[in-house]
Amino acid sequence: MKKTILITGGAGFIGSHVVRLFVKKYPEYRILNLDALTYAGNLENLTDLENLPNYGFIKGDIVDAEFVNGVFEEHRPDAVIHLAAESHVDRSILDPLSFINTNIIGTVNLLSSCLSVWNENMEGKLFYHISTDEVYGSLGREGYFTETTAYDPRSPYSASKASSDHLVRAYHHTYKLPVVLSNCSNNYGPNQFPEKLIPLAINNIKNNNPVPIYGKGENVRDWLYVGDHAEAIDCVFHRGRNGETYNIGGNNEWMNLDLIKLLCKIMDVKLNRLPGTSAALIGFVKDRAGHDLRYAIDATKIKKDLGWEPGVTFHVGLEKTVDWYLSNHQWLDHVLSGDYANYYDQQYKQR
Ligand code: NAD
Ligand code: TYD
Repeated sequence: MKKTILITGGAGFIGSHVVRLFVKKYPEYRILNLDALTYAGNLENLTDLENLPNYGFIKGDIVDAEFVNGVFEEHRPDAVIHLAAESHVDRSILDPLSFINTNIIGTVNLLSSCLSVWNENMEGKLFYHISTDEVYGSLGREGYFTETTAYDPRSPYSASKASSDHLVRAYHHTYKLPVVLSNCSNNYGPNQFPEKLIPLAINNIKNNNPVPIYGKGENVRDWLYVGDHAEAIDCVFHRGRNGETYNIGGNNEWMNLDLIKLLCKIMDVKLNRLPGTSAALIGFVKDRAGHDLRYAIDATKIKKDLGWEPGVTFHVGLEKTVDWYLSNHQWLDHVLSGDYANYYDQQYKQR
C-alpha cells in the first residue's frame, strides 16, 4: 500500500461517503476508519466495503488519548482526515459538554498523536481537518463567508468547532504540523441521521407526522449534496496547500420554509399523494435558542485554486435523497430505534 490514511468519524453521514470514495478510487491506499459508533455512527453505512482488502475499521473514542496514541503507534498513518465530531446544534444546546470533549479534546488528542509519530519526519504527512461554515457566525440578508471572515461562533456546536479549527492552526504554526482545513455549508443526502432538517422532514412526511419548522422558517442555509462534499474533500486532500483553508459551499441558498415546501411537493409525487397533502403537515414550533439567521459560503477560492465546484443540482440531489430514504426502510428503522424517541420527545414535545 502506498499510504495509510486514518479517517475519523467514517461511520457517520459525511464520513461514510468520504470513506467509500477513497476506498474505491484509491485501491493503493489503506483506509482505516476510526469511529466510536455513537448514536450517529452506523456500520450499516459501509456494509459494501467490509470485505475490501484496503479497508479496515477501528472502534474507539478520540477523547481517550491513550487509545488514540495506541492506534497511531500500531498503524502509523501517513495522513488523517478528521471528521469525527458531535455535529447537531440542537443537541449542543441540550448537552454542550459532550461537544467540548469530542470536538475540542478529541481533536487535540489526534493532533498530539500526529506530532509524536511524525516528529522525526513530517515530509508527505497531512492532518486534514473537516469543519463547518457555522464558525463564522450568522449573516444578515446579504454578504458571504470567505476564508478571511472573522470567527464568531454562536452555538456550543459552532464554538467547539471554531476552537478545534484554532487548535489545528496552532499546531501548524507552533510545531510545523502539515495541515489543511475546509469549512463547508449544510450537507444533505443519503445516510444522514434523521435529527437534521431534511431527513427529519422526509421521515415525518413519510409517516404523516407534523413537520416542525423553527420560528417563521425564514432562516437561510446553503445546501450541498454530500457526494459533492466528498469530492471536494478528495480535491483538498490531494491538492490543497499546506496551512491553507478552503470554504466549500453549494451556491444554493434556501429559506427553510421554501425548502420544506419543495420537499413536500417531491414527496407528494413519490408517495402518490394528492398535491398539498404533505405541505398540510407543516407546523411552526418554538424557535431554536440563538438561531443563526443565515449562512452562505463564497467558494471562489476552491474553484479558482483547485478547480472544484458542485456537480449535483438541488432538485436532482433532493430527489435522490428522498428515493434513498423511501427505499432504505431497514436503515431508518434501525437508527430510529434506540435513543431517537427520547431525543425527539425532549427536543420537540415542549415546543
Ligand atoms: P455525524 O454526526 O453524522 O457523524 C459523526 C461521526 O463521528 C459518527 O460516526 C460518530 O460515531 C463519530 N464520533 C462522534 N464522537 C466520536 C468520538 N468521541 N470518537 C470517535 N468517533 C466519534 O456528522 P456529519 O454530519 O457526518 O459531520 C462530519 C463532520 O463534518 C463533522 O466534523 C462536522 O462538524 C462537519 N460538517 C458537517 C456538516 C453537515 O452539514 N452535516 C457541514 C459542515 C461540516
Ligand atoms: P439543521 O439541519 O439542524 O442544520 P444547522 O442547524 O446545522 O444549519 O437545521 C437546518 C435549519 O433548519 C436550521 O435553520 C434549523 C432548522 N430546523 C427546523 O426548522 N426544524 C427542525 O426540526 C430542525 C432539525 C431544523
